[in-house]
Amino acid sequence: MKGLIIYKGKYGATRQYALWLGSMLGWPVIPAGSETAQQLADADCIILGSSIYIGKLQLRKWLKEHGDIIISKRLFLFLVSGTPSSDKEKLEGYLTTNISESLRSRCVPFFLPGKLEFNKLSWIDKLLLTIGSKLASDKTDDISMEDYNDVKKEHLEAIINAVRKLSEVAA
Ligand SMILES: Cc1cc2nc3c(=O)[nH]c(=O)nc-3n(C[C@H](O)[C@H](O)[C@H](O)COP(=O)(O)O)c2cc1C
Repeated sequence: MKGLIIYKGKYGATRQYALWLGSMLGWPVIPAGSETAQQLADADCIILGSSIYIGKLQLRKWLKEHGDIIISKRLFLFLVSGTPSSDKEKLEGYLTTNISESLRSRCVPFFLPGKLEFNKLSWIDKLLLTIGSKLASDKTDDISMEDYNDVKKEHLEAIINAVRKLSEVAA
């Protein structure tokens, strides 16, 4: 089975998970937009990775543009965010508001914890985060402004197991 990892993030959390997956599976890791049409065409299975900013997937536009090509592949999608994995409703909501139903039904989703270092954000992201957190209508919409870092290799166990299981079936 020919695999590919395509990701889009901003401050390194999504990239780190993508690189770990790439080295564990021996698959190429490519930032979204740098892949070639041939690489996409040749892949049987694609792991897509994206972080979330104010409810939007970084990979949203790329998914719209490439949906028709990738829909025929085996797809896994990992989302990196500040929302705790226990908040399933909010996390599932990110999928429904960002990805078409047809594509969503083809993706196996995984939700991974991210990291935040406020001082390293661009001024616009500092502003967005401050406004977003102030505007949060209730606690469930809240986006943390406190620094955190829960990017750990061990969070990839479930996705690695799922991909390996698929490879065994495909072999
Ligand atoms: C401006 C801003 C907006 C964010 N919005 C959300 C959000 O809507 N929901 C969420 O769960 N996390 C949100 N986050 C947290 C990011 O998803 C988290 O920091 C993630 O690790 C970023 O990954 P990256 O470095 O790969 O882009 C936000 C962070 C920033 C800086």
